[in-house]
Amino acid sequence: MKYRKFGKHDFEVSLLGFGAMRLPIIGKDESKIDEDKAIEMIRYAIDHGVNYVDTAYPYHHGNSEYLVGKALKDGYREKVKLATKNPVWLVEKHEDFERYLDEQLKKLDVDHVDMYLLHALSKDRWEKIKSLNVFKFLENAVAKRKVKYVGFSFHDERPVFMDIVDSYDWDFCQIQLNYRDVNYQAGVEGLKHAASKGLAVVIMEPLKGGKLARVPRKVQEIFNASGKNWSPVEWSFRWLANFPEVTTILSGMSTLEQVKENVEIMSRLEPNSLTDEEFKVIEQVQRAFDSLAVIDCTGCGYCMPCPNGVDIPRNFAIYNEAFMYEDLEGSRRVYNIFFPEENRANKCVQCGECEPKCPQGLPIIELLKRVDKELSWQNA
Ligand SMILES: NC(=O)c1ccc[n+]([C@@H]2O[C@H](COP(=O)([O-])OP(=O)(O)OC[C@H]3O[C@@H](n4cnc5c(N)ncnc54)[C@H](OP(=O)(O)O)[C@@H]3O)[C@@H](O)[C@H]2O)c1
Repeated sequence: MKYRKFGKHDFEVSLLGFGAMRLPIIGKDESKIDEDKAIEMIRYAIDHGVNYVDTAYPYHHGNSEYLVGKALKDGYREKVKLATKNPVWLVEKHEDFERYLDEQLKKLDVDHVDMYLLHALSKDRWEKIKSLNVFKFLENAVAKRKVKYVGFSFHDERPVFMDIVDSYDWDFCQIQLNYRDVNYQAGVEGLKHAASKGLAVVIMEPLKGGKLARVPRKVQEIFNASGKNWSPVEWSFRWLANFPEVTTILSGMSTLEQVKENVEIMSRLEPNSLTDEEFKVIEQVQRAFDSLAVIDCTGCGYCMPCPNGVDIPRNFAIYNEAFMYEDLEGSRRVYNIFFPEENRANKCVQCGECEPKCPQGLPIIELLKRVDKELSWQNA
């Protein structure tokens, strides 16, 4: 296993971190973790050098923290940095922060966590928790030794990320990053900014939730022609590990075989090691994915703002991902669960203000109808 310094602190964490969000389950019920298998996987990872385990209040409907607590019995707790996250969307008053932390310590059956994150910050959540004096909570939690290092995870636009990074003396942050999300959310720019301020940067969704592990034929052919005997997973990890600013890469592994493969891959990755040739392969792959898009939107945003609140580029991006990653169900889930209702395609009233502004000349009104027809569960 390779190790990297944790930001401004003088200890190291393993390049592979264990993300306890996609543990093996019994049947189809996300809350029913296959405990024996999951514990075996976590302990295998730790026995092979992983020293960072990441969980959160809502994972597996609240059961991931219990499971991680069990996996860390028998001497494993002392071998890892344990990370969990405050469910800030449930916090209504200042005291709630600590109430959730105490509940989490109980679930995990530990007296402290090493890394404590404010979970999935966005602009609105950030404003809310600042008004509830979140910094005072964090300082008290550290002073009471319930928490050692404080950070946040993030899902919103880059300017919000920059603002949060610059607003507090954080120990670390956690961002979504992979070779398809170079400019999405915090992106590479956010990674470099956070690292320049001394934050350790923990990476989530390195395989875009698994989409980069099983790539379309067109992409696989490019990897095959590269002359490298690397799996799509290894290409993804290599691209990330190449950044010296990346501290640890969380992988949400769901089988022991995945743990074994990822441990093995992460034992040979160095920063600044990708060659120009290898970068070219990644660029070809990025173009191949782009070519699978069915709506020719470049995401320039000239069509915005829509007077009715439709996020036109995001609607098209979610739709395109169904084809790029051959995952229509995944795009439907994002559209119906994670995408705010007020920004969805069906809010279009066909005023036509957007169409003359589109540099690609896209028939936006018709395309929005198609997006909603094919993605909305209400049309199923
Ligand atoms: N703070 C937040 O807001 C937030 C959000 C997302 C994630 N996270 C954290 O970050 C962690 C990592 O994110 P993620 O789980 O989305 O990571 P990811 O690595 O992008 O996706 C995990 C999926 O990739 C596939 N996979 C992993 N290793 C593989 C291998 N060797 N071969 C083939 N497939 C492989 C598996 O898919 P299958 O199961 O389909 O086989 C697995 O479920 C999470 O577990 C969680 O701890 C945090």
